[in-house]
Amino acid sequence: MTAPRILQPTEDALNEAARRLQAGELVAFPTETVYGLGADAQNEQAVTSVFAAKGRPAFNPLIVHVGSPGDVARIASTDDRVRALTDAFWPGPLTLVLPRLPNGKVSLLATAGLDSVAVRMPDHPVARSLITRAGIPVVAPSANASGTISPTDAKHVADSLKNTDLLILDGGRCRVGIESTVLDLTGDAPSILRYGAILDSKIALVLGTPVFYADGSSSLPRSPGQLLRHYAPSVPVRLNAAAPRSGEAWLGFGETTAPGLNLSPRGDTSEAAANLFACLRALDNPACTGIAVAPIPDRGLGRAINDRLRRAATKGD
Ligand code: TXA
Ligand code: MG
Repeated sequence: MTAPRILQPTEDALNEAARRLQAGELVAFPTETVYGLGADAQNEQAVTSVFAAKGRPAFNPLIVHVGSPGDVARIASTDDRVRALTDAFWPGPLTLVLPRLPNGKVSLLATAGLDSVAVRMPDHPVARSLITRAGIPVVAPSANASGTISPTDAKHVADSLKNTDLLILDGGRCRVGIESTVLDLTGDAPSILRYGAILDSKIALVLGTPVFYADGSSSLPRSPGQLLRHYAPSVPVRLNAAAPRSGEAWLGFGETTAPGLNLSPRGDTSEAAANLFACLRALDNPACTGIAVAPIPDRGLGRAINDRLRRAATKGD
């Protein structure tokens, strides 16, 4: 039986990890958002094993991670908006969905057969060192079984992908804690497909145009991931709760008197985002009837947090 191996990111470990990627094998690595399950984006077989390890539906495309903004032009068509946004926010938690180059080398499975491709340059020294050493674009969905909570430390990855032949580079706790903002630039109007730490107001300022939000309710969702129940604990989640009911675990925010965990006692939405997934994991205990969550204001990263919480609270797959 194979099992994940966790290594500190020493020179030796980084070299071994880079060799594994080049050989079509899997490596989980830390990014500033969440841990990614990495594989060679140009190797169809390697990409297939990412979908298999996660149990991810093949219609849900992956993000291609690059080591520098200059690498994007080999994968997708770029324009002035791309340059402005990568200058402002890369490396960092912003994913751009761009027209895929027809003769680009990214695996068709990675893009789920779409004529667009999602790219991002992560802001974590381990991720950057790994991608640069491997010298290839790296697909990396969050390193968890599909439909479960994204991992924000190395142990979460090992727990979620138990029977996988996998090297996990341990970079400690992820700084941001929720997945990147996904911005669709395939049309004239830039639109957010997933809320994250790069706020739409900041993007609008850089582009000098309004930014829209494409929610999953349109008849033709542009981000297949929006269709799915995501980030879900095994017990029910009740949102905007004033207090826990008997049997419920409590996840507070700001001042609270109920015993349980608190996303941010001082009411800071960035701190709350960094703690969100680890708290949901810690409270996900079959001995309780559910998890009650205090209201989170929509300011700052609050919108991204509430988006994740709504998906966690949605029943069924
Ligand atoms: O922060 C992150 O983005 C993390 C770290 C590891 O980089 N990765 C991540 O990947 O969250 P994943 O696979 O869990 O989420 C990717 C999201 C999905 O909702 C997917 O549908 C969307 O990006 N996506 C990928 N390619 C797309 C495309 N061509 N068009 C529209 N949406 C796309
Ligand atoms: Mg994910």
